[in-house]
Amino acid sequence: MRANENMRTKTQNIGEQLLKNRTNSAYVLNTLENLGRLPRDFDGRCLLEFLDNESSTIRFLAVKNLGKLRNDAFLVFLTRIAQNDPDTNVRREAVSAIGRMRKPDTKEILFAKIKDKDPKVVCQAIRGLLIFKGEAGIDAKLSSLIDHENEMVRQVIRKEYFAEKRKIYTQPHPESYDYLKNVVVNGDTIETMKFLQDESVHLTFTSPPYYNARDYSIYPSYKAYLEFLRDVFQEVYRITKEGRFLLLNTSPVIVPRVSRAHSSKRYPIPFDIHHYLMEMGWEFIDDIVWEKPEASVKNRIGGFMQHRKPLGYKPNPVTEYVMVYRKATEKLLDWNIRSYDNKTVEASKVSGRYETTNVWKIDPCFDKIHSAIFPVELCKRVIQYYSYKGDLVFDPFGGSGTVGKTAKMLDRYFFLTEKDKKYFSYIKEKITMDLDDQFPPRFLSLNEFKEVLE
Ligand SMILES: C[S@@+](CC[C@H](N)C(=O)[O-])C[C@H]1O[C@@H](n2cnc3c(N)ncnc32)[C@H](O)[C@@H]1O
Repeated sequence: MRANENMRTKTQNIGEQLLKNRTNSAYVLNTLENLGRLPRDFDGRCLLEFLDNESSTIRFLAVKNLGKLRNDAFLVFLTRIAQNDPDTNVRREAVSAIGRMRKPDTKEILFAKIKDKDPKVVCQAIRGLLIFKGEAGIDAKLSSLIDHENEMVRQVIRKEYFAEKRKIYTQPHPESYDYLKNVVVNGDTIETMKFLQDESVHLTFTSPPYYNARDYSIYPSYKAYLEFLRDVFQEVYRITKEGRFLLLNTSPVIVPRVSRAHSSKRYPIPFDIHHYLMEMGWEFIDDIVWEKPEASVKNRIGGFMQHRKPLGYKPNPVTEYVMVYRKATEKLLDWNIRSYDNKTVEASKVSGRYETTNVWKIDPCFDKIHSAIFPVELCKRVIQYYSYKGDLVFDPFGGSGTVGKTAKMLDRYFFLTEKDKKYFSYIKEKITMDLDDQFPPRFLSLNEFKEVLE
């Protein structure tokens, strides 16, 4: 009781001091910033003075502190700010303060704010109105916003009113089918994926063939190449478990010139494929840049070094992208994480040093048999950061099998597809059986794989 009274006296004094020092912006700012919790009967009238201050930060803080009082005596002031303040953060704070009152007479005011030009203000108004969810008038108006032009607004409405009914899963989220565990299939990846059930894999990490830059990847046109990748990642989307990740390693490629009379052509694969992935429902999460030492990459700057003529500048490409996507879901990551038992979560925690930025400096790897293999360090990071022990990790373009080998080493299962017989045999050499393997590696032709399914 006494503590409350003390607090009240202290805050009332603050109110008086504020008004006395109304022209001292630094004082006002500092005081408003540090007002903290306010007693319900705090006399908020001392704050009204600052609702028209020329500093948007002071106006914002005045609104924020008024909002703490949840007193509808201030509704008219807050409504004026919500409607007219030129600063979008101030308007949003006013809408938030109105919403927090949870009073029926705020509904019309909040509905008016759905027409605000800033989608963040619109979302705030929706949040205030969702308190009344279940009332026919509210539900009808809010659900009609599913066609709103802004994607954030549509996403909130979809989650609130159009979320899929609870899905029935054929298996618990952390589990995967035994017939896929530690299997490599020698076949076309799209053909093979067709035999997999929906939501079968936890993580896909892959590096697709480069467009016509290596002998194992010849396509009739760049368009045909992109459409092939689109079809692959559409299938990957289908077989990925809800809310799980795809990490895609690509970089722009150069196709050499036909003759000295022509120029070479550079194809921006990561940027072109991105568009397709977004269209099919992958959610963009991060762009990780894999940086290699300059000495390890092709020298393009040589010519410029000699002539130094503008326009002829061609930097040495030391980076590749590792783009991170998540299969669309209304569920938060927490839902995925909570589906694992404590023992698995503890065992999967990333211990020791870890990468803190999106620039990963890793030496490339050179191999006598395969010309484009992942460094183990890159695979290690991806698998450790984006999967749990016991998960199924998929690489549709298996190559020399680095993803498989690393997944096994990190106590995950792998499933790989590789079209080329030579590389398939190479994977066989590289991924060996261990005595304690519960699922020893199996190397199957597509026909043999189909037989396993029957
Ligand atoms: C860039 S390499 C992958 C290298 C791999 N990340 C590694 O660490 O060894 C791409 C691989 O995809 C394979 N490939 C190309 N088209 C394929 C297809 N339609 N289905 C399965 N594999 C394919 C190629 O034979 C090549 O080995």
